[in-house]
Amino acid sequence: MEIKIFKTEEAAAVAAGRYINNFVKKNPKAVIGLATGSTPLSLYNEMIKGCKEGVDYSGVTTFNLDEYVGLPVTHNESYRSFMNRNLFSQININIRNTFVPDGMSADLETQCTDYEERIRSAGGIDIQVLGIGSNGHIGFNEPPAPFDSRTSVIELTEQTINDNARFFDSKEEVPKRAISMGVQTIMDARCCMLLAYGSGKTSALKGAIEEVPDTMNPASALQNHPNVTFYLDEAAASLITKQVREF
Ligand code: F6R
Repeated sequence: MEIKIFKTEEAAAVAAGRYINNFVKKNPKAVIGLATGSTPLSLYNEMIKGCKEGVDYSGVTTFNLDEYVGLPVTHNESYRSFMNRNLFSQININIRNTFVPDGMSADLETQCTDYEERIRSAGGIDIQVLGIGSNGHIGFNEPPAPFDSRTSVIELTEQTINDNARFFDSKEEVPKRAISMGVQTIMDARCCMLLAYGSGKTSALKGAIEEVPDTMNPASALQNHPNVTFYLDEAAASLITKQVREF
């Protein structure tokens, strides 16, 4: 695991954005796994800037980690709508090559197995972007999350519903279920980059990086990944004592 600590979120996002933009320059048909929430927005701004400066996203394929069950695409907080607004409409990607699980599907089980198959037939994920929940979740893999899990329907925990209530008018409006790539689906990506900023993530990160891997902290599974980099700001990294690189 490589742990990079930056003075600010902005500096972390610039470094993560440079990594993705350079990868796409060298691999025009890259397959990139994406996340939603507050954390990746500054990274997406760097990808948008990169595209404006000539990085060609037209051959790139993307797979999002997750989607709420029961929110239509037209709902502002559906992850498809989030992605269209915050990234896809602002880079030259072919929207047909952007995949987000369909949380409105009448057959959610088939939706999950199809999603896995689609990732496989795209050749697997080159770089998976991750955030981390305050309870250690990656994607919506809530603790305890079996490390061999595949894309499935997840019941969101009270903690995640509370954390995500800020995006909705009330807590009651937060969907109770989501489709999420599994921990093993994430682990299959050839490279993972986990971004985390702010003091709300300190204990989840401590468990993920410095404690024995445990299904109660799903992000700790990443300790067994051969190519994972954490991009943290100083506030998020305040409990980390392991050897790290400071920027
Ligand atoms: C979202 C996702 C989640 C978030 C996590 C952190 O697609 O996969 O794991 O990354 O809940 O959310 P924020 O960034 O809003 O703190």
